[in-house]
Amino acid sequence: MAIVSFMPLIFLCFLVNLVTHAAAERQYQNCVTERGNFTANATYMANLDALLDNLTANTQIDYGFYNLSYGQNPEKVSVIGLCRGDLNPDVCRSCLNNSRVFLPQFCPNYKEAIAFYENCMLRYSNRSIFGVVEDTPWYYYWWPGNNVTNVDQYNQVLFKLLPELQSKAASGDNRLKYAAGSATVTDSLRIYALVQCTPDLSEQLCIDCLGVAFSEISSCCNSVAGVTIGRPSCNVRYGTNPFYEAIPDTPKGNSKLRTVIAIVASVVAFIIVIVLVFIYLRVKMARKYIEVWRKWNEGTALDIVDSTLSGASTNEIMRCIHIGLLCVQKDVANRPTMASVMLMLNSNSATLPKPSEPAFVLQGRTFTGTQLLERNSGLVETAINNVQASVNEASNTELYPR
Ligand SMILES: *[C@@H]1O[C@H](CO)[C@@H](O)[C@H](O)[C@H]1NC(C)=O
Ligand SMILES: *[C@@H]1O[C@H](CO)[C@@H](O)[C@H](O)[C@H]1NC(C)=O
Ligand SMILES: *[C@@H]1O[C@H](CO)[C@@H](O)[C@H](O)[C@H]1NC(C)=O
Ligand SMILES: *[C@@H]1O[C@H](CO)[C@@H](O)[C@H](O)[C@H]1NC(C)=O
Ligand SMILES: *[C@@H]1O[C@H](CO)[C@@H](O)[C@H](O)[C@H]1NC(C)=O
Ligand SMILES: *[C@@H]1O[C@H](CO)[C@@H](O)[C@H](O)[C@H]1NC(C)=O
Ligand SMILES: *[C@@H]1O[C@H](CO)[C@@H](O)[C@H](O)[C@H]1NC(C)=O
Repeated sequence: MAIVSFMPLIFLCFLVNLVTHAAAERQYQNCVTERGNFTANATYMANLDALLDNLTANTQIDYGFYNLSYGQNPEKVSVIGLCRGDLNPDVCRSCLNNSRVFLPQFCPNYKEAIAFYENCMLRYSNRSIFGVVEDTPWYYYWWPGNNVTNVDQYNQVLFKLLPELQSKAASGDNRLKYAAGSATVTDSLRIYALVQCTPDLSEQLCIDCLGVAFSEISSCCNSVAGVTIGRPSCNVRYGTNPFYEAIPDTPKGNSKLRTVIAIVASVVAFIIVIVLVFIYLRVKMARKYIEVWRKWNEGTALDIVDSTLSGASTNEIMRCIHIGLLCVQKDVANRPTMASVMLMLNSNSATLPKPSEPAFVLQGRTFTGTQLLERNSGLVETAINNVQASVNEASNTELYPR
């Protein structure tokens, strides 16, 4: 009879739990009765409100740990807010904000209370709570319907991974004591785990706190694949799916530096391409002039004339080519002035000097066309190699700012 009347209540409890958990990712909360109550409108309440407002308004703290006190004894309030170590400050603040609204409402007039969410933990008390391991209240949470088939094999990997993360987290600084990592159980099974202490703990106290949490796993949750153990001073979570954000080992500045390098590389590549096009045109021109000059010397200059011009006077065409060749002489003094070009074009009788090999100016030095061709084929090859090398370097090199 008693059992039957309890059934709907248990079911309701289960439903409410499920709904609130899904809505707020809140996993556990506790109003600590032993620490006593305060009366409504008391100084303690005003201090608590001011402190929690101050905490949620704080935008300077970006490492997910808040330890603040406010008021005078015996009405002094201390608060600790801790976010999961892989979360960005906005997600962290939003979780603490939810918690700040929820907890004083859930535990009205309680001097001490604690709420665990998936992303954060918030606790306050009239005691001094910084730098000490708090053992109660603690909770565990496991995801149902996810039991391990080979428990021994799973535990072997799990209890090798957890101590590694424990010492890594404990060695963190006074802003972050957090470690996450994974290990292989079988080809198709991997354990992902995360451990964290409130960073006000010493290294040894962090190791101690996590050690107790690990021992709780065996008593509460043996054979369960995914578990969370929450304690006021530390927590452990593991499962078979990756649930944490990998914090990159390389500093954040790296990607910025890479972007700058990539931009510089493309600007340099662009400039080199422009130079190459310029050189290419020069070389093409030089080749043309040299061809003309050779043919002119051989007396076959007419070969290069476009067939549509074949109606024009041979004499005139030869004269134009001759004048053109004179305009690209190596020695500037040998090049005709504009006035003499006009004269040469207008008068068929003026005798023209014999042109030597055409020449070009490159980088302030003059080269004959043949020299230019030789020089530039090497130059172009070197330039192409350089562009290729610098582009490869920019895309392959891992950069570590000092
Ligand atoms: C906290 O409040 C409780 C209940 O009022 C009281 O017994 C205890 O002494 C207080 N602790 C401190 C450190 O003031
Ligand atoms: C504290 O207040 C809560 C509810 O406001 C009440 O249930 C509880 O009995 C009170 N505890 C003490 C010690 O007065
Ligand atoms: C507490 O203060 C509010 C307004 O600040 C007031 O309305 C309320 O009556 C007060 N309650 C007590 C018990 O003094
Ligand atoms: C929080 O409180 C401290 C003093 O305890 C004060 O210096 C600071 O300005 C406050 N910050 C905000 C955002 O209220
Ligand atoms: C905190 O929550 C309150 C109400 O829930 C909201 O008005 C406020 O904008 C939130 N603040 C931040 C910083 O998210
Ligand atoms: C709060 O935490 C910071 C960083 O861990 C620490 O430097 C500071 O001393 C702590 N403040 C208190 C009141 O414990
Ligand atoms: C899964 O493991 C838990 C904890 O050991 C146990 O209570 C539960 O009965 C197991 N479920 C199944 C389906 O084996």
